[in-house]
Amino acid sequence: MSAIGKPLDRVDGLLKVTGQARYAGEFPEDGLLHGSVVSSNIAKGRVIRIDASKALALPGVVMVLDHLNRPKLASYDDSYADADAADGSPFRPLYNDRVLYSGQPLALVIADNLELARHAGSLVQIEYAAEPAETDLLALQDQAYPSPQTPPKPRGNFQAEWTGAATRLDLHYSTPIEHHNPMEPHASTVLYQPDGTLHIHDKTQGPQNCQAYVQKVFGLDKSQVRIFAAFVGGAFGSGLRPQYQLPLAVMASMALKRSVRVTLTRQQMFTFGYRPRTLQRLQLGAAANGRLLALGHTAIGQTSRFEDFSEHVVEWSGMLYHCDNVLLTYKLVPLDVFTPLDMRAPGAALGVIGLECAMDELACALGIDPVQLRLINYAERNQNEDKPWSSKALRECYSEGAERFGWSQRNPEPRSMRDGRQLIGWGMAGGVWEALQMKASAKARIDHLGKLTVSSATTDIGTGTYTVMAQIAAQASGVPVGDVTFLLGDSSLPTAPLQGGSFTVSSVGSAVQQACEALNAKLLDIARKTYPAFKDAELARFENGQLHAGDQRISLAQLVQDSGEQALEVQVDCEPDKKREGYASATHSAVFVEVRVDEDLGTIKVSRVVSAIAAGRVVNPKMARSQILGGVVWGIGMALHEETQIDHQLGRYMNHSLAEYHIPVNADIGEIEVLFVEEHDEIVNALGSKGVGEIGIVGVAAAVANAVYHATGKRVRDFPVTLDKVL
Ligand code: MOS
Repeated sequence: MSAIGKPLDRVDGLLKVTGQARYAGEFPEDGLLHGSVVSSNIAKGRVIRIDASKALALPGVVMVLDHLNRPKLASYDDSYADADAADGSPFRPLYNDRVLYSGQPLALVIADNLELARHAGSLVQIEYAAEPAETDLLALQDQAYPSPQTPPKPRGNFQAEWTGAATRLDLHYSTPIEHHNPMEPHASTVLYQPDGTLHIHDKTQGPQNCQAYVQKVFGLDKSQVRIFAAFVGGAFGSGLRPQYQLPLAVMASMALKRSVRVTLTRQQMFTFGYRPRTLQRLQLGAAANGRLLALGHTAIGQTSRFEDFSEHVVEWSGMLYHCDNVLLTYKLVPLDVFTPLDMRAPGAALGVIGLECAMDELACALGIDPVQLRLINYAERNQNEDKPWSSKALRECYSEGAERFGWSQRNPEPRSMRDGRQLIGWGMAGGVWEALQMKASAKARIDHLGKLTVSSATTDIGTGTYTVMAQIAAQASGVPVGDVTFLLGDSSLPTAPLQGGSFTVSSVGSAVQQACEALNAKLLDIARKTYPAFKDAELARFENGQLHAGDQRISLAQLVQDSGEQALEVQVDCEPDKKREGYASATHSAVFVEVRVDEDLGTIKVSRVVSAIAAGRVVNPKMARSQILGGVVWGIGMALHEETQIDHQLGRYMNHSLAEYHIPVNADIGEIEVLFVEEHDEIVNALGSKGVGEIGIVGVAAAVANAVYHATGKRVRDFPVTLDKVL
């Protein structure tokens, strides 16, 4: 049986459940110092004075770093010197006396242990000159300016067609700030080596990204910084950029020539990137037969004063349905907050809420079944790019999902289905995410015992990368998967992109496959030189750790021994497939949701979800299903629970803890079924696999809201859909 397509258990599962997998903040070291961050409690202004004397008086407190006594840094003081305002410069912790947002790190206390560092931090007194801060997107939406990253150009004549359409909708939706909140808080352990170089265990989705960052900021040579991230306890985008604990830990380590760890608290997990709040306007014009004549999607997102964060919020509205008259607009409003950051299905998770709720409203207005309306407007091409799809099995998602859910039993009338005092609602939505491929490199090495080691500097953020890469390598090399080891999470390994965007299987997986194929070519060469029976390459195949030709076979271990080497090794650099250029590639989904709404209390329970996914070839159905399950659960959270709330008087988050930042718990989640529909794609990459990290969340929140409408007859367009809005 081939290794690809098997529901293999996580190869790192045992290490994780037995506590042997070490995360960034868990590496022990004799004499390790601990840092605790002191955060700003004003949102805007200046630091007048930092008095650390009480902290420093405690035995065991080693140092308190702030903007006045921090070490001089190469690019803090040079290349970024003028970049303190809103012109696109990254945040620099302890840069100067400016306070740019509430929660900004203003000092780092270094002590012998963490408890002492925290306590000492509470004794640091900061005097501020506060200025009024603006943190409310709604209040400042008139100040929105076009995002520097512009959406696809308008096509057709949106305004004329919308104005003239038989059915016209003009709808406003809003989505709140959300924070990633992976289980593992951000942490950096800097191990100061005897030769002055730094070995850093960091929570990151890209060790080489962090290596480049540390090099640049501290003016170090590449050889002086090595970043490890062997295990990452969830990230969801929060590890795509180096976060501030990393430079702080490095600063302290270099200043003291000691090993230092800085771990953020759960509350401090709310002091950097997040999913931005958006205001969205959907304008749909349709003919009586359901054909979309005009589609306008405007989104306004918030950003910081120092960077313009943009993501693809409105693009999806130009590609999920066929429509010839489209106007997409995306604007930003800078606020006195930190810069937002990619969060699972960045942009799509937001924009598809607006689009798919509006499509449901259109279906109701026209009296057409929501699935039928989507089939009427099925996009045979990606009109944004004017390209055909490399593959698209969205029709199958609709039909197989509807079948499994029992959609045909739905009475379209709102409030028509009930179970005692429970109103039952059935809603659905579609989803889409890009299927990208990035440049990536991989190394494959087989030793004289036939053990294969493949490596690339990617990460496994819980997605199953260790496992699926071992499967891809096993399939390509013919080495049994039990004899394959995949190494990742080390900046010294062959170059890999950040783990993100659902492109790791596509990018690193393709490199792994190519590396194994190149290694096989080497082994075959040895066989042909050594054994007459293997002269004819046509007949050769690699299986079960052996090279076969007709009824002849020889173990790969033997071939390595025949080479006279301890091991054979190849490294490849893999570029995105040229074939992709003429096509658009995307994953698609259809999600069907049942909610039960208590008629008296307005409480909403999602009792059933069917998520049908088209993502090309599935490398590991068990791991892929986990990705979709996690996405669906998060989508339910987006629909009903998640919202980071700001006190705009203070410019400060109010619910910055897992007690008050609501996410779904087990009791909130009913039955979730995941279907992968057949989808063959010869173009997207050599594996035919599109990636499943993001698609599971897209559309889910809209499907839940649509189900709530069907149950209650009430449209809530301001997310999350909480019971006070439903009642
Ligand atoms: Mo994902 S938001 O690309 O980590």
